[in-house]
Parts: sequence; structure tokens; C-alpha cells
Amino acid sequence: MNAKEIEQIKQWEREHVIYPWKKQGWYEPIVIERAEGIHMFGADGKRYVDFCSGLLNVNIGHHNRHVLDAMQAQMEKLCHIASSFATEPRAKLAKMISEVTPGDLDYVFFTNAGAEANENAIKAVRWFTGRQKIYSNWRGYHGATAACSTLTGDPRRIPCEPGIPGVGKFFGPYCYRCPFGYKDNKTCGIQCLETLKTQIMLEGPKTIAGIFMEPIVGTNGIIIPPVEFMQGVRQICDEHGILLVMDEVMAGFGRSGKWFGCEHFGVVPDIITAAKGITSGYVQLGVMIWNKKVWDFFREHPFVGGLTYYGHALACATGVANLEVYHQENLIEKSRINGEHLEKKLWELYEKHPSIGDVRCKGLWACLELVADRKTREPLAGYGDCKQNVMGEFTKRILDLGLWAFAKWDYIFLAPPLIITPAQIDESISILDKALEYPDSLLKK
Ligand SMILES: Cc1ncc(COP(=O)(O)O)c(C=O)c1O
Repeated sequence: MNAKEIEQIKQWEREHVIYPWKKQGWYEPIVIERAEGIHMFGADGKRYVDFCSGLLNVNIGHHNRHVLDAMQAQMEKLCHIASSFATEPRAKLAKMISEVTPGDLDYVFFTNAGAEANENAIKAVRWFTGRQKIYSNWRGYHGATAACSTLTGDPRRIPCEPGIPGVGKFFGPYCYRCPFGYKDNKTCGIQCLETLKTQIMLEGPKTIAGIFMEPIVGTNGIIIPPVEFMQGVRQICDEHGILLVMDEVMAGFGRSGKWFGCEHFGVVPDIITAAKGITSGYVQLGVMIWNKKVWDFFREHPFVGGLTYYGHALACATGVANLEVYHQENLIEKSRINGEHLEKKLWELYEKHPSIGDVRCKGLWACLELVADRKTREPLAGYGDCKQNVMGEFTKRILDLGLWAFAKWDYIFLAPPLIITPAQIDESISILDKALEYPDSLLKK
């Protein structure tokens, strides 16, 4: 595109586009024209490494020929039909999902996105149990719809309050900053579990319908809980007839080096919600997946839910082709193996950059947590940017250097497409190395 065409796009954006998550009127995004593999290309021809897979969803990389061909073939046959009819892609995708989910999580309800999957899971746990209350993690995110904002613990919840009634919060184990001050991970996990048990006892266990949690916390800093905590939560749910809902919207479909994040802990939830990697973002799709116990209940009771685009044929065909790519290219295993390489390279950066306080990585899913002081772990930007906006400037600098990595508060997220090679990881790490000079420069001398 020439400079005039690019300016025209920017002008229409300025004049007519409402931006999500931002104050309006000051933001000027880069115009992207196309993307291929791990790269995106600006309208001005500049190449960027997409080291965050879009918003951690383009797991198979951009412009995958197998998926594009499948989409085109489906479009020639049928894009959409009323959800009361069956289609081959919908049936096939549900079957393929049931083959990769743990335990008896074999029953699939289709949605348009992750938040809508969680909205439906809220209904499902309430109707199944006949109870109203839901618990979720303070350091958790579950989507931007009204109910999901209530389940969210982080500051994105606050402007949406008061939210839906009946939602309580617990402290999940954030071992780098243990909410109870413990230094070792195992004790942090055990203390969080004991506190949750006490909360539930005081709340009245028979009033709680569901516990919603991410298996590994995503946008609140890739927080990996100790296995004792996760298994303990499963036990609490079993003891009191509470349904365990694992929000795998970000973790699911290979991001963490397994099909689903809960597999790292040997925990099988009652319901999984997922989206993002199910189609790698080629079109929108989400799912709520039930185990047999939940399915059996709804054989006798109607599930009152489902939007116009439920089980959208084009979206499901995209999902089928996308899952085929995971299998054909062995991407789940690649995420695990290349994730180990990524983690090693990030610890090398830790040795060089004093602004890095912690490195957390599982599969091709990593976070650098920045600090003002490694010893005291004083945050650099602060939770919700309460001290200073470091990441706005960091993002600008890293994009100038040709790399996209989502960054907010004290967290830099690194989650490239699962097709990335070790050599491409190394190339991106050297860009990151340069960009980290900026937060280093903010440290007190
Ligand atoms: C864990 C988690 N749950 C839910 C959502 C919301 O998904 P969506 O934006 O597709 O509605 C997200 C999005 O990032 C997420 O990370």
C-alpha cells in the first residue's frame, strides 16, 4: 500500500472505530495487511514476528494452506444453517474434540468465543446443582461479558461492578508473590488450599454451584499452581457436590505443551471451556465441554442457551482442519519441546537484565515479570499500572524492533505460534534482549 492509502485507513479508524479496552481518541494502531507463518506484514511492508500468536490464539500460525483450503471448500457448500440441523463439520469437530479431552469430557456445546463459553458454564453449574454461588480466582480472567467480568478477579472487573450476584473470590497460588507470604511453592499451594477450604466451610458448601479457574493463569502472568493445590480443589468439589469448571480458553489446544492445561496436574474437571486455539483465530469459535455426569442431567432438563451462530458450519470446518494440523504437524509435542528451549533462553535474559524478576514458562507460553528491585520484588509498573505505565513504551519499542509481544502491568507475554523453530525463537530473543534495555534503564541506580 502506498502512504496515501495507509493514511486513508488511519483516518477512517480515527473517525469511526471504537477501540476495545482503551480510552478513545488517542490510539493509533499499526496497519497490518497480511500475515504468514509466524510473521505479520505492515501495510508499509515492515515485517514483524508475531511472538504472541495474535492474542495467544493463532496457534498453528497464519495463513495455513490446509485450513484455508478447508474453509474455501466449506464456503462453497454451506456457511451457515439454523442450529436445529446437523452438519458434517459440527458433528466431526465435536467427535475430534472428544478424542483429545481428558476423562469423559465428551459432550460439546458450541459458542462464538471464550466469554460466551463461560457464560453458558455459569448457567450449567447453577442448573445442575440448583445452587447459585460461584467461586473464582482473584488473579484470573474469564472474559469481557457482564457475568464473566464478575468472575474475573483482576482490575478489568472493577468498571463493570456491580456484577452478577453470588460470586466469591479466592486466592490462587501466585507463588512468586504468595498471598500468605510463604517462600516455597508447595507451602504456598497448601496454604491457599487450606484458606479456600475455610472460605467454603464458612460460605456453606451446599450453597456453592461451581468453582471456575484457569489451570494456569493466563493474562494475569502465566501463574503455574502447585499440583497439590489443583488436586485439592478437585477434592473439595467432589466432597461438596460442587462442579469444577476449567477455563482453558488460553491454555487449551496445545499452548502449554499438552492438549489441555489441566493435564499437567492430573485433574479432570467437570466442564472445560475453550476457544482461541480451537480454530487458531481463522474464524471465531468457542466451546463448553461437559462430562457424562453433566450430560446425563441435561438429558432430562433443557439447556436454555445457544446463539444464532451456534455450531456455525464454516467455523466448525475451520476447527476440524485446524485440529488436523495439530495432529499432522505434531504441534502439541512441539509446543512442549520448543517451550523448553524458550524457557532456557528466557533464563539467559534473566541473567543479563536486572529488571526481570521472574520467568514463568509452560510449553510455548511464557511470561517475564518485571521488578524495580529483584531482592525486594518491588513491582516496576505495579498491578494495574498503579505506579507507572512502563509497558506502553515497551510495546512501542519492541514493535519498532519488529516483534509483537503483548505486555501489560509488569508482565511481558511470549507465546509464539506452535510452528516456530528454535532458530526463530533465538532470533526473537535477541530482539527482546534489546528491548529490555528500556525497563533496565528505569531501575534505581
Ligand atoms: C482464560 C480466558 N478466559 C476467557 C477469555 C475470553 O475469551 P474471548 O475473548 O474469546 O471471549 C480469555 C481471553 O483472553 C481468557 O484468556
